[in-house]
Amino acid sequence: TKIFVPCDTTALAMGADEVTARIEAEARVRGVEIELVRNGSRGLFWLEPLVEVETEDGRVSYGPVEEDDVASLFDAGLLEGKSEHPLSQGLTEDIPYLKRQQRLTFARAGITDPLSIDDYRAHDGFKGLENALKLGPQTIVDEVKASGLRGRGGAAFPTGIKWQTVLDTHADQKYIVCNADEGDSGTFADRLVMECDPYMLIEGMAIAGLAVGATQGYIYLRSEYPLAQRILDTAIARAEAAGYLGENILGSRRRFDLEVRLGAGAYICGEETSLLESLEGKRGLVRFKPPLPAIEGLFGQPTVVNNVLSLAAVPFILSHGGQAYADYGMGRSRGTLALQLAGNVKRGGLIELAFGTTLRELIEEFGGGTFSGRPLRAVQVGGPLCAYLPESQWDTPLDYEAFAAVGAGLGHGGVVMFDDTVDMGEQARFSMEFCTVESCGKCTPCRIGSTRGVEVIDRIRAGENREANLALLGELCETMVDGSLCAMGGMTPFPVQSVMKHFPEDL
Ligand code: NAI
Ligand code: SF4
Repeated sequence: TKIFVPCDTTALAMGADEVTARIEAEARVRGVEIELVRNGSRGLFWLEPLVEVETEDGRVSYGPVEEDDVASLFDAGLLEGKSEHPLSQGLTEDIPYLKRQQRLTFARAGITDPLSIDDYRAHDGFKGLENALKLGPQTIVDEVKASGLRGRGGAAFPTGIKWQTVLDTHADQKYIVCNADEGDSGTFADRLVMECDPYMLIEGMAIAGLAVGATQGYIYLRSEYPLAQRILDTAIARAEAAGYLGENILGSRRRFDLEVRLGAGAYICGEETSLLESLEGKRGLVRFKPPLPAIEGLFGQPTVVNNVLSLAAVPFILSHGGQAYADYGMGRSRGTLALQLAGNVKRGGLIELAFGTTLRELIEEFGGGTFSGRPLRAVQVGGPLCAYLPESQWDTPLDYEAFAAVGAGLGHGGVVMFDDTVDMGEQARFSMEFCTVESCGKCTPCRIGSTRGVEVIDRIRAGENREANLALLGELCETMVDGSLCAMGGMTPFPVQSVMKHFPEDL
């Protein structure tokens, strides 16, 4: 019998290794043969560790399993996939949380053994790269343009147009840089890609290299993801040994090399130009734009800088065609978005959906409300630089333009929920304080403005000259939005302004 226990960071944190050891011990005691596979996570975090058993009807799952549940699971017919046990979730594919998703990027997550190339190939892996090798660079770029894919790091710039700029810029050396400095609060989709389906990212980067004529790629990974680093390093070595990377990809005489580089815990190094500085071995200071990285990026050469999720969407686009991806979504937001439900939520996890679902459906139907059981009060979508949404905005569809129209953003898809015990004034203060800690210090509105912002919020909360200080905070926010060099200082006011507008009673 084949039994699957996930091996990503979340499952491990929830005790997946201990559960695995107990399953092996229990099988030995009972004298039964089992084959244990360490798969990636399905992203249904509230059920982790989610133990699955292969049956004739498909995989059957049990979760969240603790060590002490293992013996009773065996007693209740775990090996036959029986559903009598209270932890039984039935067929995994039929769990509503999973069944209602549109998984294009996360289609393999939790199904395969992340490091098995055979598994990857058996589930459509490397088909996009094989197709790309038959196409010319312009045709690959056109396919990505046709998909409508927009940058999933947060800025939503059309990926195909970015690639076109790099393709059109002449240089002897070009680079593909993957931004894996996933720093937004409540986000983990990049990590799941890297830990659960690393070959997809490798394939996406190799395709990007073929598209723009780049032979070297770097994954700039946050140092807080040691497991992702180990998995990526192993996957890169195996992909190279199997001919999918290196100087002669699948005998095509086309070259693409890939390396992982570690960041050192600075949020600002997720901004593309400070990331490039850091990759060059310097302090992560933001660069002026122009020139765009697409024209003068890493070591002054034309560089594609894309988020993990943008690059991870590319294998699907090249294997199924750009149109197949564009068939999902609404308006100018095409394809799917990887949403990450976190904070005070009952059922946290990864939810991949076509653009267009409302925020309310996401937090109520998937999230199941708050973990505390208390009424939900505010939802921050898009990370620490995006707005807090009050209930009046929860019917907004998850779409870049619809969110922008209400003064909010989708960012990297992180969704953090707060119940009615939250002090939104404290949250506004936190936004400003975060900027004081993470500012690179290059420009005044951000470096000085955020410190003054914390002070003004403290004065407002202490009841000093309330009206005058509120007006001052409003002006300070405007100055930071208009005068900051990058999104750090330029967007920090958005959560603050959303509190001033929607939760003034807390300030
Ligand atoms: P941006 O709007 O300046 O640029 C977007 C991207 O398009 C950049 O890569 C830029 O180089 C590229 N670009 C623009 N015009 C181009 C052209 N003609 N040809 C080729 N490329 C072109 O936005 P920025 O400052 O890079 O990012 C801001 C966003 O980052 C925010 O929306 C925020 O949501 C997000 N963010 C994400 C974080 C995360 O952890 N994922 C953290 C902080 C912010
Ligand atoms: Fe640096 Fe802040 Fe200015 Fe960005 S806005 S360049 S992080 S000081």
